[in-house]
Amino acid sequence: MQITKWLLAMFCAAGLWMALVPAGMAEEYEVPEANPYSGDKKAIRSGRSWYRNVCSPCHGGRADGQGERGTGADLRKQKLGYKGFVEVVLDGRKVQGRIQFMPGWRNVLSMKDILEITAYVETLALPEANWE
Ligand code: HEC
Repeated sequence: MQITKWLLAMFCAAGLWMALVPAGMAEEYEVPEANPYSGDKKAIRSGRSWYRNVCSPCHGGRADGQGERGTGADLRKQKLGYKGFVEVVLDGRKVQGRIQFMPGWRNVLSMKDILEITAYVETLALPEANWE
């Protein structure tokens, strides 16, 4: 009898915990082998609006690195490949000696948001870019 009550209590506690932990915190940030949103018009539109809100201040409205808050990298030329791009967006990059750095977006944006932004930036690629 006691043990069933205990199990029931544990079960409820686990349920409560899962309900209370914010969705972003429990999210898995596994990078898929290929971007499922690449070439997807609807996702690209959504990615563009995310990009304009969160990335353009530093990277510029045309992703050429000329944002009003200074100079982020020119994302039209990015050479990191698809996975390398997503990894920098997730965890950011700080190069010693540079004042400006790339902030990480893990636990800020969802993986879906990041992949939509990625699909959008991919549409701006210059010939020398690497999206493989
Ligand atoms: C606060 C300014 C800032 C914001 C906001 C920002 N970035 Fe950056 N980002 C930078 C800077 C600065 C660099 C260059 C880092 C370095 O190498 O010193 C960079 C580098 C990058 C790189 C590496 C480019 C390369 O060719 O090596 C990628 C990819 C990138 N940013 C994507 C994004 C995306 C996507 C967003 C929006 C979700 C974003 N960034 C938002 C400042 C920013």
